[in-house]
Amino acid sequence: MSTDTDYKETQSTEDEFTILKALLDAPDDFVSGSLLAEQLGVSRPAIHGKLEKLREKGFEIEAVRNRGYRLVKEPEVLHPALIRYYLEADATDMSVRYFPVIDSTNSEAERQITYGTKSPFAIASSCQTKGRGRLGREWYSASADNLYLSVLFEPNIPPQQLQHFTLWAGIYICRALQSFTPKAKLQIKWPNDLHCDGRKFAGMLTEAKMDFDTLRSIIFGIGINLNSNPSSFPEELRSIATSLYAINGEELPINKIAARVLQAINEAYEACIQNQTTEALPEAWAPLNSLHGKPVTALQGDQEITGIASGIDASGALLLTQPDGSTIPVRAGDVTLKK
Ligand code: BTN
Repeated sequence: MSTDTDYKETQSTEDEFTILKALLDAPDDFVSGSLLAEQLGVSRPAIHGKLEKLREKGFEIEAVRNRGYRLVKEPEVLHPALIRYYLEADATDMSVRYFPVIDSTNSEAERQITYGTKSPFAIASSCQTKGRGRLGREWYSASADNLYLSVLFEPNIPPQQLQHFTLWAGIYICRALQSFTPKAKLQIKWPNDLHCDGRKFAGMLTEAKMDFDTLRSIIFGIGINLNSNPSSFPEELRSIATSLYAINGEELPINKIAARVLQAINEAYEACIQNQTTEALPEAWAPLNSLHGKPVTALQGDQEITGIASGIDASGALLLTQPDGSTIPVRAGDVTLKK
């Protein structure tokens, strides 16, 4: 009988990582086959076989007699050794487990902790069968061109210290992604959506486990519509969602971006936990705020509040200006633009 936990992890061998590292460290050069053979302690034909396996996985590797091998193109799908390479290049100490298909990366992170996986760790996937969104919604997760990531931390501290973590993670991730899409302005729609020109391209979901007054674990999940074409999205999403590919006009390096996003999540976490956010939250939020000056309706529980959105306050609440000039802070819930 199959269960929810029957998902297959794709792991990279140390040999595969060593070969890829040698090739990636020398982007404009050829790496000699005998050097690789020596590094791995195997024969030249064995190296040839390992390179063939990499080619089967989508790596384009040029081979020139008497010169060696050169990496011409990375695969367009996630590959655990590439994520690891880029994370190490950024000096981010985080292990990543890659599942081509999973129910939900947040659910897998929760399972991994019961198997004893050492935190912090990340779960990456190319397709979720039960992707979860905020407020009990579903997260469209079918395309392998998109990115589904979760990171699990075990802070064991009072929850107040991390109360703004998701907002900070949004800021750090938005800034990180902006460097890949110089032509378009990326913004955050309070509280947890990434937008461009009024359309959503990423959503974040944080799930926490508390034990009395201690925050035991925190799972931060993010889904990013990356290299998918919005015309392939379900009908109901086409007018409200977009992808970084559509925004940028060309495909983006999925493995490099996965590593950069994981680094941003880690930096946001470290900054919160060490109380070392060098900027104030409202000021960091302001230049990224997609709602600034817009008329919005906020649903807080069953109460509807309307107003002109300004910024957020130090507690992370969205401030809605009323006709009499007063402001109402919205602390939780969902916000829609007033038509
Ligand atoms: C939202 O905008 O409603 C939040 C969406 C969060 C989706 C991500 S995809 C990776 C992680 N796994 C999930 O099941 N959900 C989050």
